Amino acid sequence: MATVHTGMTMSLDGFVADRRGGTARLSDPAASNGSEYMDELIRETGAVVLGRRTFAMAEDPDWYAGNYEFQVPIFVVTHTPPPVVPKHDENLTFTFVTDGITSAVAQAKAAAGERAVKAIGASVVRQVLRAGLADELHVDVAPVLLGAGLRLFDDPDLEDVTLEKIDARDVGRFTALRFRVRNPL
Ligand SMILES: NC(=O)c1ccc[n+]([C@@H]2O[C@H](COP(=O)([O-])OP(=O)(O)OC[C@H]3O[C@@H](n4cnc5c(N)ncnc54)[C@H](OP(=O)(O)O)[C@@H]3O)[C@@H](O)[C@H]2O)c1
Repeated sequence: MATVHTGMTMSLDGFVADRRGGTARLSDPAASNGSEYMDELIRETGAVVLGRRTFAMAEDPDWYAGNYEFQVPIFVVTHTPPPVVPKHDENLTFTFVTDGITSAVAQAKAAAGERAVKAIGASVVRQVLRAGLADELHVDVAPVLLGAGLRLFDDPDLEDVTLEKIDARDVGRFTALRFRVRNPL
């Protein structure tokens, strides 16, 4: 059964986007498309769950097929699916899920087979952690201070989430952290 990995790249002071919504200072060639690190993520990922706002980061939704790093089934959580399904192919398909995060993760797990589901988007990360759906939390810490913006863990309901560090390594200027999520039985 697929495991569920969630997480994002975060500034040292806890932001995943700056005050203008930008993420440029949170990138590093060593973790970008074509890098050894990204190749490893691609190999382990069998399906992706995206929040609607993360999905909308691509100005043209038809860009995903053939260009997005994860050429796998994509499940977008949303209240309002787009009128036209974006371009897709035999590897990258789109499913717009309107009945909640649990449904999106279940559908993604079924599609991922033996590989992992990657759940991305600040609200998505918080939801999968709150709902006990995440097996691992992956946070790439960028050595920048953004001062303000979108906080990844700004949610008092996360207070009971317990983590166990399973990996920490340097990826370019990032520190890539992996934690097992200890969900209550
Ligand atoms: N640093 C990084 O690694 C990284 C990576 C990706 C994105 N980002 C940044 O993160 C930000 C996006 O995160 P975000 O938290 O703002 O948004 P998000 O999680 O990507 O998407 C939130 C939206 O998804 C839909 N949604 C979420 N949960 C839902 C549910 N349970 N049921 C139905 N619809 C649901 C809603 O959209 P609707 O109601 O409109 O349908 C909601 O407004 C952007 O600023 C992006 O630039 C950073």
